Amino acid sequence: MQKEKILVIGASGQIGVELTLALRKIYGNANVIASDMREENDLLKGSGPYVSLDVMNKEMLHVQVIRQNITQIYLLAAILSATGEKNPGLAWNLNMQGLLNVLDIAREEKLTKVYWPSSIAVFGPTSPKENCPQQTIIEPITVYGISKYAGEFWCNYFHNRFGVDVRSLRYPGLISYKSAPGGGTTDYAIEIFHEALEEKKYECFLNEGTYLPMMYMPDAIKATIELMEAPAEKISVRTSYNISGMSFSPKEIAAEIQKHIPDFTITYKPDYRQNIANSWPQSIDDSTARSDWGWSHEYDLPRMTEDMLKNLQQQ
Ligand code: NAD
Ligand code: SER
Repeated sequence: MQKEKILVIGASGQIGVELTLALRKIYGNANVIASDMREENDLLKGSGPYVSLDVMNKEMLHVQVIRQNITQIYLLAAILSATGEKNPGLAWNLNMQGLLNVLDIAREEKLTKVYWPSSIAVFGPTSPKENCPQQTIIEPITVYGISKYAGEFWCNYFHNRFGVDVRSLRYPGLISYKSAPGGGTTDYAIEIFHEALEEKKYECFLNEGTYLPMMYMPDAIKATIELMEAPAEKISVRTSYNISGMSFSPKEIAAEIQKHIPDFTITYKPDYRQNIANSWPQSIDDSTARSDWGWSHEYDLPRMTEDMLKNLQQQ
């Protein structure tokens, strides 16, 4: 069997840190190379190799892939929904060209697998709000959503046309305590924990009744690894799989936190991110992922809240 050598691009980000550490446990520290444009995240230091890399520089990326004998790439570098609306051109360039660079190199170097995440942001106001299905009307209104939807079809194209084994998940909003979030509309659900512990109050940039699909990071890492380890014949979706964990509103997560911190209070001051949130579904139907490769989530809102508070307090 071929020994896998993995390159994680965007390894210092919210998902990258935890995914790199999880992959190192499975494949061995030396076989998972972390890379990013920014400095190595403190949590990665000493746990394995790190290279400074800009995914937009295709030549340098190609050199690294050859030099390090890379067999798999996990591409996590992207600009997320809220930051993307501030600079749509930059978001489109990075989210599209970064992916095309990786797919091209994967084809040329015959990499065994590529992972690239999509998002619930592909859905728009015309998609069903409740239990949004795998296949439905998809008319995103953010540049981030447009780039993810186009990216899904590039993945599908490279798989069908060139046989690149590229796999993808439409992550919901991800909640974690290890590394900071990178500018998404769902980031309030992380900020709220920090503010609850530090200030006992939080001003939310979404209104109280805004339900969004969310997932705790351990479930997202589990989904990613399970998808990547599934036999190719089980992967029927070559655009990107819906996956789901929980759905809640700011009012509901605040009430859950109040069970642990009774004097915590929340106020609401919606900004431009409310419009983005309003365009997304409130919950996701992930039955295709469940039946294709056996996906199931573990964390609901109470369990996630307890774990977040416990770990942030220890930090
Ligand atoms: P993040 O912003 O926390 O991390 C992205 C990392 O990419 C950063 O460390 C950044 O420095 C790096 N990067 C940016 N430009 C780069 C470049 N040119 N070359 C190399 N590295 C570069 O993002 P994240 O939350 O970890 O998201 C990772 C992926 O998951 C993205 O594709 C994102 O769209 C997707 N996703 C995230 C969420 C979420 O809630 N976090 C939800 C859905 C999808
Ligand atoms: N959490 C992400 C965002 O809000 C969803 O892709 O941008």
